[in-house]
Amino acid sequence: MNNRVYIFDTTLRDGEQAPGFSMTAEEKLQMALQLAKLGVDVIEAGFAAASKGDFEAVRLIAEEVKGPVICSLARALEKDIELAAQALEPAERKRIHTFIATSEIHMKYKLKMQPEDVLERASRAVAFARNFTDDVEFSCEDATRSQREFLYRIIERAIKAGATVINIPDTVGYAVPEEFAKLIEDIMNNVPNIDKAIVSVHCHDDLGMAVANSLMAVKHGARQVECTINGIGERAGNAAMEEIVMALKVRKDFFGELYTNINTKELYKTSRLLCRITGSFVPPNKAVVGDNAFAHESGIHQHGVLSHPLTYEIMSPEDVGFPATRIVLGKHSGRHALKSKLKDMGYELSEVEIDRIFEKFKALADKKKEVYEEDLEALIY
Ligand code: KIV
Ligand code: ZN
Repeated sequence: MNNRVYIFDTTLRDGEQAPGFSMTAEEKLQMALQLAKLGVDVIEAGFAAASKGDFEAVRLIAEEVKGPVICSLARALEKDIELAAQALEPAERKRIHTFIATSEIHMKYKLKMQPEDVLERASRAVAFARNFTDDVEFSCEDATRSQREFLYRIIERAIKAGATVINIPDTVGYAVPEEFAKLIEDIMNNVPNIDKAIVSVHCHDDLGMAVANSLMAVKHGARQVECTINGIGERAGNAAMEEIVMALKVRKDFFGELYTNINTKELYKTSRLLCRITGSFVPPNKAVVGDNAFAHESGIHQHGVLSHPLTYEIMSPEDVGFPATRIVLGKHSGRHALKSKLKDMGYELSEVEIDRIFEKFKALADKKKEVYEEDLEALIY
């Protein structure tokens, strides 16, 4: 099996659907251009049938963004698929992503359809989408709460109808990693024509396991991950791209030869661009891109990092385009960090002088969250 894991970015579709994250077509284009620079394989630019604005955004991205496959979501309805195809028409490479719910609860209460009719609808939608492109993705919405046998049947039918990617969403963020891995493994072993499609996963973070579930899925045969920058998305969000990509890169000992084509040095920039565009922020302790991801305040950690960064950093800030390791001077900091900071500021001081400043520094740090260079200047004299 191929070791390449395709990165399907849905920041501009699932991410944008979340309250407070809507973007104009121009803003989406700006993000899409950066996503192309980042090296994502597929950009889900929107849901063309959802609104005129969404249609225009998909169309604009299809016209302007070269490199990644441009994709639009569409319900398993001819009118949605036609709109997706129209919006994608100028794209160099295009994908139609059609979906229908497959769990009993969704079929009964939301779709009000019988399972046999859902099978038929899915198959017809995929075949219809193939009239516009050879690249058609089919998603079984709420797959993790669907009956296994029904899932196998609908996936087999979708592939027969022409689906080239089969997506298994954990729509409500319900799965746990071991169970999700088993679901992917079961699909690989029980759908007779599964070798004709790429298996994709799309995990939500309602129980905080979207990234873990996605990683277990690729370990067990999935080769596309749907994810978003900063993990934005419906409710608790989607799997965070930066975390998935860095986990595969940093933990090669566990994941083996699996790799993505992401230029990881663009991750931080992409994260910050999204924050600026949406007026949102990432928490300081956010993995990979948070302000504290490479910051150290405690004395023991500072001493370690100053001696050798790998003592407390499993990746380097440069790997993700982060400005630099930040040594924060606060009440937990030690003499080593203070000495190193004073040296960076241009002061060559004797050990006695450093001892004197360190005492004053500790007293100040007890009153203040962070001690800045200006504070140290005052302490020196
Ligand atoms: O969460 C979900 O199931 C989705 C599908 C439309 C792929 O976003
Ligand atoms: Zn979703």
